[in-house]
Amino acid sequence: MCGITGFTGKQPALPFLLQGLSKLEYRGYDSAGVTLVNSKKLRTWKTKGRLSELEKVLSDDLDQSCGIGHTRWATHGVPSNMNAHPHMNRGNTISVVHNGIVENYAALKKELLDEGYEFHSDTDSEVIVQLLDYYYRKKPVMKEALMRTCRRLEGSYALCVTSVYEPNTIYVAKKESPMVLGQSAEGTFCASDAPAMLEYTKEIMPLQDGQFAILNKDSLEVFEADGRPAEKKWIHFPYDVQAAQKGGYDSFMLKEIHEQPGAIRETLRGRFRGTKVILPQIDKLNADWDSIRETWFIACGTAYHACIYASGLYQRYTGKPAFVMPASEFRYCDPAVGPHTLCIFVSQSGETADTLAALKLARAKGCLTIAVVNVLGSSIARQTDAVLYTAAGPEIAVASTKAYTTQLVLLHVLVLKLAELFGIKVKGISALIRDLKRLPDVIEETLQKEPVMKKCAKMLKDQRDAYFIGRQLDYPTALEGALKLKEISYVHADAYYAGELKHGPIALIEKNTVVLAMATQPEIAAKTISNIKETVARGARVILVTDEEMSAEEFKYVIRLPEICPSLRPVPAAVLTQLFAYYAAKEKGCDIDKPRNLAKSVTVE
Ligand code: G6P
Repeated sequence: MCGITGFTGKQPALPFLLQGLSKLEYRGYDSAGVTLVNSKKLRTWKTKGRLSELEKVLSDDLDQSCGIGHTRWATHGVPSNMNAHPHMNRGNTISVVHNGIVENYAALKKELLDEGYEFHSDTDSEVIVQLLDYYYRKKPVMKEALMRTCRRLEGSYALCVTSVYEPNTIYVAKKESPMVLGQSAEGTFCASDAPAMLEYTKEIMPLQDGQFAILNKDSLEVFEADGRPAEKKWIHFPYDVQAAQKGGYDSFMLKEIHEQPGAIRETLRGRFRGTKVILPQIDKLNADWDSIRETWFIACGTAYHACIYASGLYQRYTGKPAFVMPASEFRYCDPAVGPHTLCIFVSQSGETADTLAALKLARAKGCLTIAVVNVLGSSIARQTDAVLYTAAGPEIAVASTKAYTTQLVLLHVLVLKLAELFGIKVKGISALIRDLKRLPDVIEETLQKEPVMKKCAKMLKDQRDAYFIGRQLDYPTALEGALKLKEISYVHADAYYAGELKHGPIALIEKNTVVLAMATQPEIAAKTISNIKETVARGARVILVTDEEMSAEEFKYVIRLPEICPSLRPVPAAVLTQLFAYYAAKEKGCDIDKPRNLAKSVTVE
């Protein structure tokens, strides 16, 4: 979702602004713009469409050393030149870029219209620059104008301000939308996500909610909302620039699919000693584990599917009740949770607005909270009682792959840890841990099936729909497979519990309908196979994913997973569905890394 960059330094700002925005392209956007500032005027360019369109309209004389940039993902108002950021005040002396949503923008706009202000866009963001102008005119001190403006904004924001009044200065503020700061020999800069800066520095300072910062050529000051200086907390980003590049693959998604063995290996590193689970962050909680009555798993999108998997395991291993709900529902359902509840939040970005809001609700109700997050120092990571990091590294493609499989693995480890803390002995734990450690090799072997999945994906060439089915732990794989296919190939896909097919969806099965069936769980596989036969009898073309043993002679396309404990099979099975979606999208000529209308990190409600 929207990208922000800002730079003030000793050299031209534009190269930083554009390279940063292009590193953030993966977040999804539909228009782009920059403002460069010199002492007399602000020069702003903006266009609908990709960054390449913006580069076409940039004129010469672009060597100003202070500027801000933005890629917009439309929320209020269609994608257009007018609605693109930056937004300027009357007189063109102040320029603002904003991520987030100003929830009370209508009331603020009315107030400003009454004061004689004019608006030129349909965005909520434009009220910010007009409000800044209003306060700056009352008292021409930008720091104070910004503080007064922020106090009036309801909702979420990460924003950058530059002006002719202080032509080498950028003001930055943040509430519930990500913003990171950095400094190097070249200058001082900010961005809405770390990959935009990794070429310049690996020491990153995430701005905290309510804080604001003043960036100058060679200084960086951070303040609390009330203007007191704030403590600066730097984080070292271990990823190199290569990690955020395609490295010879034709898309980030394919690269990230192939990175899964390494990402899983890293995520599992040092997690076991014998059959003991090593998660010091959880031990440090010193919680009264006996008082935990039930556990909720909460997330959005792909991470929500990882939660469904984890809740199944949790009930199986601990025998205690588990609930799973998308964060966007949890936050409004008045959940029956309290101090006896453990809430586990799962998020790749750690910035998803709904997940963050659900977390705040759980904390307000006194729940114990744990996060499983990929991005270091992100908002969700900072606000839970304990955080566990997946070691997926930067995930750039909008469609999540390695973040998902590392979530499955880390959640599995966490659930084993919880069983241990509850004093429950998990049956077959030695074999399970042995197989968890083998998982990277199993994924390596699964990736050898790429040519088969490519061939299977061709079946979708003239199809508008596909169905994914599975039962028990295969069900989240079906959901995630269907989501992946929808996201990047735009083929309509639905997932069903195999046993539910006959209660409605089977009416949609006709000659040549493509069905991807998961039957990897031995205790239920035979039942799933009978459900699949019902679809074959109606002309469906079935691709069956199963284990090495299941007899399946009657099916034409059978993909057998390498031998591994059943509870871990959803990991290699997910990899197959990723390849299936990838090749379906490729066959259709889609923009795989940047699917239409989607954003990598959804920081608005
Ligand atoms: C967006 C992304 C999905 C992701 C979801 C949750 O919708 O496109 O791929 O699963 O957000 O994101 P999170 O960062 O919280 O895992």
